[in-house]
Amino acid sequence: MKLFELRSFGDDGLTMTERGDPSPCLGEVIVKMKFASINFRDFMIAKGFYNPNLSLPLIPLSCGSGEVVAIGNDVVDLKVGDDVTSVFWQDWNNTQQTRLVSTGSDAAGVLTEYAVLPMSAVLPMPEHLSHAEASTLPCAAVTAWTCIQAASIKAGDTVLLQGTGGVSIFGLQIAKALGANVIITSSSDDKLDRAKALGADQTINYKDNPDWGHEAFKLSGSGVNVVIEIGGGGTFEQSIFALCNGGHISLIGALSGIKAEVNLLQMVGKNINTHGITVGTKEDHQAMNEFFIKHDIHPIIDQEMNFNQGAEAIMGIASDNHMGKIVVNIDS
Ligand SMILES: NC(=O)c1ccc[n+]([C@@H]2O[C@H](COP(=O)([O-])OP(=O)(O)OC[C@H]3O[C@@H](n4cnc5c(N)ncnc54)[C@H](OP(=O)(O)O)[C@@H]3O)[C@@H](O)[C@H]2O)c1
Repeated sequence: MKLFELRSFGDDGLTMTERGDPSPCLGEVIVKMKFASINFRDFMIAKGFYNPNLSLPLIPLSCGSGEVVAIGNDVVDLKVGDDVTSVFWQDWNNTQQTRLVSTGSDAAGVLTEYAVLPMSAVLPMPEHLSHAEASTLPCAAVTAWTCIQAASIKAGDTVLLQGTGGVSIFGLQIAKALGANVIITSSSDDKLDRAKALGADQTINYKDNPDWGHEAFKLSGSGVNVVIEIGGGGTFEQSIFALCNGGHISLIGALSGIKAEVNLLQMVGKNINTHGITVGTKEDHQAMNEFFIKHDIHPIIDQEMNFNQGAEAIMGIASDNHMGKIVVNIDS
């Protein structure tokens, strides 16, 4: 089988290679992968920024979809022929709180013709989606779902989204399906126009308007109910400005720095809730799948790349040329 391996950290550490086809051990399934998708984390892993102590070589990518082609003797809930997606955390569910092993980082990932996954790391694919669409769900969509759930967003609330990458565009789709108002920021007017076409109510160019937090507060009337915080250090203060009293920050990323200087009294004065989020549990993923089916939500795919462009797809995500998701066609 063909696969990619991360053999060393840095710009040139990813290599396409060949190995013998795998067979399943107890508790495992073999998935013939059809599509995989890229998250910013995959770039950080490849560069060695995410966890420099990861064991290499590693098959990259947490997110993919395909068809089950073999199962271990004790696997009962899945059968050969099932269309499935990977699950981000292989050992995190509502009854087991350990959460140590994530696909494509602590365990082998899915940028491979045949992925070996524990049965805990596989879920049926939502039937209304193509394989390309379904491959985008396990990290970015589940994270956006968990962020919005943490703030109990309902119709009429306002959600503030930073940038137009994978998580934020899923946040837009979920928030609109809930009947919420969406304000989205971007460094690109063209991307903001596209976000409007997807349903965003109000937009702010954060490059042209560095005080976008106060602008979002004004646009929302009395402050936004939740910010999905992808920027971290460089954006956190503006997020506080944007929030209403009792608002929520769902903190997931640190694209603009891991340390923030904040006025804690502003957080106290506004009764702000801050939630650290690490994607979500398998049950969160299942609940999100049901929501996507109910509301007929289809992920926004910006770029589809061939298998032999796998390394380019991973390293290219940091150039921010995409809106929504980048996928790799493994059959190509
Ligand atoms: N904790 C978790 O569970 C979790 C899960 C998923 C992702 N994350 C993190 O969340 C972040 C986004 O992930 P992703 O996969 O959605 O990334 P992505 O698809 O690569 O999106 C990146 C986009 O973020 C926007 N951006 C970059 N710097 C910004 C800034 N200073 N202010 C506002 N927007 C900015 C840009 O949008 P424009 O081009 O429109 O300006 C850029 O295109 C990453 O840090 C990732 O590691 C965390």
